[in-house]
Amino acid sequence: MHQIIEKYLMKLLKSILLLTLLSFVFSCKSDKKEDTSTSKIETKDALINRVFSFSEKQYDSLIHRIESNKPLLQPRGVTEDGQLRLKPFRDWTSGFFPGSLWYIYQNNPSEKNKSNAMKFTEALDSVKYITNSHDVGFMLGCSYGNGFKYTKSDTYKNVIIQGARSLATRYRPIIGAIQSWNTTPDMGWIAKRGWDTPIIVDNMMNLELLFRAADFAKDSTLYTIAIHHAKTTMKNHFRDDFSSFHVVDYNSKTGKVRSKQTAQGYKDWTSWARGQAWGLYGFTQTYENTKDSTFLAQAKHIANYIMTSKKVPEDHIPYWDYDAPKIPNEPRDASAAAITASALLTLQKYVPEKRNEMIAYAESILRRLSSDDYLAEYGKNQGFILKHSVGNIHTGEENDKPLNYADYYFLEALSKWKAIK
Ligand code: GLY
Repeated sequence: MHQIIEKYLMKLLKSILLLTLLSFVFSCKSDKKEDTSTSKIETKDALINRVFSFSEKQYDSLIHRIESNKPLLQPRGVTEDGQLRLKPFRDWTSGFFPGSLWYIYQNNPSEKNKSNAMKFTEALDSVKYITNSHDVGFMLGCSYGNGFKYTKSDTYKNVIIQGARSLATRYRPIIGAIQSWNTTPDMGWIAKRGWDTPIIVDNMMNLELLFRAADFAKDSTLYTIAIHHAKTTMKNHFRDDFSSFHVVDYNSKTGKVRSKQTAQGYKDWTSWARGQAWGLYGFTQTYENTKDSTFLAQAKHIANYIMTSKKVPEDHIPYWDYDAPKIPNEPRDASAAAITASALLTLQKYVPEKRNEMIAYAESILRRLSSDDYLAEYGKNQGFILKHSVGNIHTGEENDKPLNYADYYFLEALSKWKAIK
């Protein structure tokens, strides 16, 4: 009898032990599940606040380093040997840093932020007379264009109007488009390509300045030039799958296409990542300004090409060219990703059937760029916000480096995301 009770007690003890063990294992599992589904994913508001407060601090310290330069120079990126790369007003990227300062001001409208943005914007006053480059649109649109929203200053308005008139001098009626680059001997590698009138897909980004100025000055010529440029680009720059060539060279006497090539991409037939993003952004913006459905259709096709491309990695940060020869051992281009995110967050407003998909795609880019892999540490990265962009791989400069325009479109996209409820 004694033995039977002992056996029974042993069995009971074993069962209790087993039950305790099982309940411990399950409780660990369910804790873990709760962990990942709630506390591990940063909320949208927390992410945007974190990135903007970091960016403000990071740029404050960059400004502190450069504000004593006379004339004031604009931070563009980092040189091959790791030094801060500063540029005068005539550099094509000169408007991005002031533009980022306006987004920082929008997020935190303090007097300090406003005075920083105004100081770097107003250092670009002379850009309005530049007639030898199509980039006036980038330079003044990002700086004075953003600044006008907050200052409503007539001075800013007049800079925009004069800048657009300078840009319009580059319109070639026989071609029906604005010439991008000059081909004179002072143009370095561009002069050596044998082009007559090269027009690049990036040039779509300069149309916004014409639309703004047309509205301010009630000047329909500027509006018409912008429409012609967009139509010519739509006709000649895109392939059947809506990927784009980088450069289309025209004959200035006949208006005919001479060749379709690349400058910053891998090969003429490949998809240079930032070029795809410029096209998407440019046609989205042109639709916003004209409400012409052909431009909306074009933007939707380009979005579809980018979003469904198997050549874009799963995290949606493209390699510098979709067909770069040594993928996956090629640098990514954070700037192309940031431009794409910003463009999609505008385009989604006009494409209800794809709205959620476009926002989700942009969100995944913004979350990835906000991670330690791309977001700099305070005081590092020569004061820039994002790491890992590619300027022009062929010149060997700005290869896997920070760039002021990656920062600009990143902050812009975050601001647009914040506004979506
Ligand atoms: N031309 C502007 C760019 O490099 O994207």
